[in-house]
Amino acid sequence: MSLDIKRPISNKTKKKKTGFIFQMQLNHNNREGNNKRNMFIVFFRHYYRWILWFFLSLYLFTSYFTGDQPSPSTTTTSLISNLKTSSSLPSHALIESSAILKPSHTSIFNGMKIYVYDLPARYNSDWVTASDRCASHLFAAEVAIHRALLSDFSVRTLEPEEADFFFVPVYVSCNFSTSNGFPSLSHARSLISSAVDFVSGRYSFWNRTRGSDHVFVASHDFGACFHAMEDMAIEQGIPEFMKKSIILQTFGVNYKHPCQEAEHVVIPPYVPPESVQIAIDRAPAKGRRDIWAFFRGKMEVNPKNINGRYYSKGVRTAILKKYGGRRRFHLNRHRFAGYRSEILRSVFCLCPLGWAPWSPRLVESAVLGCVPVVIADGIKLPFSETVRWPEISLTVAEKDVKNLRKILEHVTATNLSMIQRNLREPAFKRALLYNVPMMEGDATWHILDALSRKLDRSYRRSRVLSQ
Ligand SMILES: *[C@@H]1O[C@H](CO)[C@@H](O)[C@H](O)[C@H]1NC(C)=O
Ligand SMILES: *[C@@H]1O[C@H](CO)[C@@H](O)[C@H](O)[C@H]1NC(C)=O
Ligand SMILES: *[C@@H]1O[C@H](CO)[C@@H](O)[C@H](O)[C@H]1NC(C)=O
Repeated sequence: MSLDIKRPISNKTKKKKTGFIFQMQLNHNNREGNNKRNMFIVFFRHYYRWILWFFLSLYLFTSYFTGDQPSPSTTTTSLISNLKTSSSLPSHALIESSAILKPSHTSIFNGMKIYVYDLPARYNSDWVTASDRCASHLFAAEVAIHRALLSDFSVRTLEPEEADFFFVPVYVSCNFSTSNGFPSLSHARSLISSAVDFVSGRYSFWNRTRGSDHVFVASHDFGACFHAMEDMAIEQGIPEFMKKSIILQTFGVNYKHPCQEAEHVVIPPYVPPESVQIAIDRAPAKGRRDIWAFFRGKMEVNPKNINGRYYSKGVRTAILKKYGGRRRFHLNRHRFAGYRSEILRSVFCLCPLGWAPWSPRLVESAVLGCVPVVIADGIKLPFSETVRWPEISLTVAEKDVKNLRKILEHVTATNLSMIQRNLREPAFKRALLYNVPMMEGDATWHILDALSRKLDRSYRRSRVLSQ
């Protein structure tokens, strides 16, 4: 049976066409006039998806115990491999029915497997040992994703030969040697380059694809451009050796930008889930949102710095000048450790751009139930394919901050309660936080979901398909 099914399926065959070929074969068989066979054929015609599904489940079930080695010698295996590899094949129908059938654990993310390189401690864990902040500050997604992957055994594989993707765990945001306490990124390029030399020298996987199935985290202002100033970041660009790889980055804009000219996934900045929980636990029961519009953070009276660059493109200064000291605006320029309790008390939380368009406020306000007011033209928000940001936030154009009060008043009078209700949906909150171990629907889970849509980059699968 599987032979008959297999032959007409070529890489390019569309789902519909496959159905058509089935029909032709079935009609041809009909002409032979065997009644018992007819009944079987009718049965088969109605249930071929389920029969395919049965083979897929059987395959996944057996591969769970045999280690998922692609072996083109058996027809069932290559049939299923073909089905799993190209999204234009009936696999989509199969995967969709999997939602009804509650598939076994192994078929999660289309059977995707990730190998996590075991790098020497100088590339990662040494930095956490040197400073706890390394694992908790706003750039700590590089640590959190690594830990979440290590704690997972549904997608992570210990056999690099069966991996679709290779995760390179380098922590580049933890060199807190600078005077302002911000990490120095000056060593980022050389540290990652050295890690690439390490893996390409010891394993064959980097060289065979030039790194295109390798995954890095670049959780800084301008992603893999590794500079906090946009002009410098653009000038230096993404290092040549990373350009073919997949980059998980907090930076994202919905226009062409040199710092996102690599395959990438826009991810949330890191906010420790424990600190969110502590803030919620400490909030008074039935806490009221008695602050209307809230912002705490850097706001320069004069946005032009000593190098002639304009902080926040002048937006934060405009907000301060127009609304500082106004009754319904709670604007503060000073650091305060308890600022999360203020977010919990606020209705609208302003998230204007800083040097980069994104900020951890996006996550902090959303998970603490304060409506994020995104003021950063062209920003691409994390997981925008799966997280419905327009339902849980407001976007105000940079040029419209002068009308901010009017805009917020209009929303208060019209759809505020709807946005607040949407924000209470736990799925949104879950998608923005990283947990160890990974939880279904959390930030790492969404990253894996995004990677599973890039499986056309998997060297292993392309090999199976071409055989
Ligand atoms: C940390 O940053 C400083 C200042 O930019 C730099 O000189 C130093 O080389 C970095 N440390 C390492 C281990 O790369
Ligand atoms: C991969 O290529 C680099 C440079 O071309 C070379 O030095 C290295 O030995 C190669 N790695 C393997 C495992 O063959
Ligand atoms: C709420 O209203 C504002 C202003 O009219 C609009 O921009 C926004 O899309 C609305 N949001 C929702 C979720 O309806």
